[in-house]
Amino acid sequence: MTTIARKRLYELRQREERRFVSDHPRSAELYERAKNSLVDGVPMNWMKKWPGAFPLFAARAKGAHFTDVDGRDYVDLSLGDTGAMTGHSPEAVVAAIAKRVREGITLMLPTEDSLWVGEDLKRRFGLPYRQFALTATDANRFAIRIAREITGRPKMVYHYCYHGTVDESLVSLQHGVVGPRRGNIGPPVNPAETTRVVEFNDLNALEDSLERQDVAVVLAEPAMTNVGIILPDQGYWQAARELTRKYGTLLIADETHTICAGPGGCTKEWMLDPDFVVFGKPIGSGIPGAAYGCTEEVARRISKRLAVEDCDVGGVGGTLAGNALSLAAMRVTLEHVLTAEAFKTMIPLARRFNDGVAAEIRKNALPWNVVQLGARAEYHFSERPPRNGAESAAFADFELERFLHLYALNRGVLLTPFHNMALMCPATTAADVDLHTQIFAAGAAELAA
Ligand SMILES: Cc1ncc(COP(=O)(O)O)c(C=O)c1O
Repeated sequence: MTTIARKRLYELRQREERRFVSDHPRSAELYERAKNSLVDGVPMNWMKKWPGAFPLFAARAKGAHFTDVDGRDYVDLSLGDTGAMTGHSPEAVVAAIAKRVREGITLMLPTEDSLWVGEDLKRRFGLPYRQFALTATDANRFAIRIAREITGRPKMVYHYCYHGTVDESLVSLQHGVVGPRRGNIGPPVNPAETTRVVEFNDLNALEDSLERQDVAVVLAEPAMTNVGIILPDQGYWQAARELTRKYGTLLIADETHTICAGPGGCTKEWMLDPDFVVFGKPIGSGIPGAAYGCTEEVARRISKRLAVEDCDVGGVGGTLAGNALSLAAMRVTLEHVLTAEAFKTMIPLARRFNDGVAAEIRKNALPWNVVQLGARAEYHFSERPPRNGAESAAFADFELERFLHLYALNRGVLLTPFHNMALMCPATTAADVDLHTQIFAAGAAELAA
């Protein structure tokens, strides 16, 4: 197996850093100016994580491509970390939201689109009832609150994960001890008070955690996607579901990223049977929107507890949630963009990405692997795919990741800044994927030389 020489990695990275700076004078200029009015020169703290001395400033995006302010074109495999899994600004969406913008954006009243979206999500995921939010974070937060309310239990549990800025989930497990996740900014309480944490794919740990019967809900992605892709073992979810039932704990399937598995996410593909399904980000092609669905039983139990007089101050809400524009964007996205037909081209493209990268890994004898989940694929710096969060985190290599991302960016391909994920949208082409494969091949060969 090839060992990456750190000195060589450092030198190659310095070379790529210089190229990045000289290729992007306009982004450099805007970044300097941004430092005067934006904290650290970025609109969001995580934009610091892009490789290179400063973030690229985007000018426009369409389909699977975008152009930066220096006039360079890129294949976008990050797709707004799934927010643009629909491709950027699909024509049908542009037309529908332009119409809705002219006809009223937010009213506090339902529009007919909400019914269409509710009915479509019911067809996709199978859970009969839903409510809306503006972000997947909020949808998770609201589902957790409802689970706590109806079970009367204070604790929740989830696996080493990311579910947005939900306080209870910004937590980690270090040598068996639960505490705030590294980088957690100002946690309101020590999350050990609110959350149990177990490793993915570990049924014994899950049972240990549930058997005291004080856990309201398990919040989980059906396959983990935020520490690389981690697939569940065969039969894991069936057994985990039995355990949650046995101990009276509810289950939230957060399909925000795993919607890449198909039009009904992993819930439909793998016949999961959760109590809640959460779906945000691409549901409105990037127009803020999210939905959380629930079973008949959950709906009945929560409805019984809602008093009309207090239903606006219960901690589940948001003035703009379920607004007319958000629902119009969701409807057109579900009806015309994220269709079953679209997945028939997106999934084979992810397979093509996977196979291309796997061949280069083999050719260069690198101790890496690549995993596909529907329209998403991701390479890891370990010989075997990780089975849980701790394993995956142990193999993370920030320097190597940044080098490969910068190498790709300098040659016209954008990967997500958080790990090595590539996502396909309906407008992605085989040529887009092959461009990445060629660049990956060149980068891997330089590293292995
Ligand atoms: C699985 C999952 N759920 C929820 C969220 C939160 O989404 P948002 O930041 O749009 O609220 C994320 C964000 O990355 C996510 O990966």
